[in-house]
Order: sequence, then C-alpha cells, then structure tokens
Amino acid sequence: MLTVEKLNVSYGDSQVLRDVHLQIPAGKVVCLMGRNGVGKTTLMKSIIGLLSPRGGRVTLNGEEITQAPPYLRARKGIGYVPQGREILPYLTVEENLLIGLEASGGKSIPSEIFDLFPVLKTMLGRRGGDLSGGQQQQLAIGRALVSGPRLLLLDEPTEGIQPSIIKEIVAVIRRIRTEGKMAILLVEQYLSLVREVADSFYVMEKGAIAAEGPVDRLTDEVVRRYLTV
Ligand SMILES: Nc1ncnc2c1ncn2[C@@H]1O[C@H](COP(=O)(O)OP(=O)(O)OP(=O)(O)O)[C@@H](O)[C@H]1O
Ligand SMILES: [Mg+2]
Repeated sequence: MLTVEKLNVSYGDSQVLRDVHLQIPAGKVVCLMGRNGVGKTTLMKSIIGLLSPRGGRVTLNGEEITQAPPYLRARKGIGYVPQGREILPYLTVEENLLIGLEASGGKSIPSEIFDLFPVLKTMLGRRGGDLSGGQQQQLAIGRALVSGPRLLLLDEPTEGIQPSIIKEIVAVIRRIRTEGKMAILLVEQYLSLVREVADSFYVMEKGAIAAEGPVDRLTDEVVRRYLTV
C-alpha cells in the first residue's frame, strides 16, 4: 500500500534519513523500532508530508506522493498520530475530534470511535488539556480515526502512558488488525507489544534501515545489536 524508496531527509545541513526504504502492505501492522534519535519520527513526518525529502520516493497505492502536502495525503487516506499527541488543549474533546473530520470532509463523528474509546464519549465537553495523558493519547488516536484512514501512522502511542491504558490502546490496534481494513505503521519501544501486534518490523540505526523482516525474525540478536541501550 505504501512504499518508501531511497528516502533522504535533512534538517538544514544535517542529514537524518539515509536511503530509507519501507513497505507497508494493506491491512498489516508494521513496527518501526530503533534507539532514541535514529530518525523514526523524521520518517513518520516525511510519510505524512510535514518534511520534504532531498531525494527518494513515497508511493501510496501506486501513486507518487513524494511532494504532496500533508492535507492531500490525509485526504488520500493517511492518518497521523504524532509523538507527544499534540491535541489542542483549549478545544473540547468533541472539537478535537471534529477537526479530525477535516481530512475526509465527513460531517459527523462516527460512533465506532466511541466503541473503541468509550472514555471519549463521557468527556465530549471537557477541554482536551484537562484530560490525563492516557486519555489525550486516546483522543489523538480517535482524532486520526474519525476520517477513516487506510493507513494509520502511530508515533510511540504508549510513551509515558500507564499500563491499563496501554492495554486499551493495544486492544484497539488488535481490533483494527483483525478487521484488516487499515494498515498501521507503529513506532514502538516495548518489544513484547511489538511481538504481540506486528506482522513485520523495521529497525533503524543512524538514519538507515539496519534490520527488517517478519516479526518472528525479530530475534534476541537483533534486539541486542540495535535496540538495547
Ligand atoms: N527540527 C529539527 N531540526 C534539527 N534536527 C532535528 C529536528 N528534529 C529532529 N532532529 C534530529 O534528527 C535526529 C532524528 O530525530 P527523530 O526525532 O527523528 O528521532 P527518533 O528516532 O524519533 O527519536 P525518539 O526515539 O527520541 O523519538 C536527531 O538527531 C534529532 O536531534
Ligand atoms: Mg521520535
């Protein structure tokens, strides 16, 4: 569904992504791993179009989108949940969700969102900034889901979140995977979680893909070499 080829991305003079490649098949969960600062978020931002590459190609369903602006990529079916959530603190939960609808031009929030995250329904009128960190993460995922993306980019959704809410987020990822209508690119540090939800993995080191494969090839050796701090 999404193909990234030889992607090179720099901040000013400092090159961060080096000939990165990636494939996300429709309906599959692909995990992206790597130590802090290796370029995972930079790759996510390049896929949604917040950063534009020096070279390489990004293709969605066979159509090149390398230079397309983020709003067009959102309209073509890519949803993005940024690292650190970035919900709008002074808008209510409902308003945050309505903003997500801008991507698809939909008119109302689909009720499935509240099946996935019941807590959001009980807090529709509350300001986003008054939610707990875990609730904000659920809101950020809900905001990305309201437009019905075909590919969801999730950048460290479990970072700083308590175990009970991590469980709920994992359940949502599993449910999406079982339905098979949406692909997910998940940046995740917890190995057990990756092994539980992923179909395949990529590991980055110093801005390049260092290891990849089906998730059963995520061996202890790979973990020791590229992920242990
Ligand atoms: N706006 C920016 N300007 C300059 N350098 C940046 C910018 N954003 C990130 N970098 C640098 O690019 C490199 C990759 O950062 P990135 O955020 O992609 O890493 P990451 O793998 O997501 O790390 P983490 O696991 O900590 O989230 C780092 O060296 C970082 O300091
Ligand atoms: Mg990051």
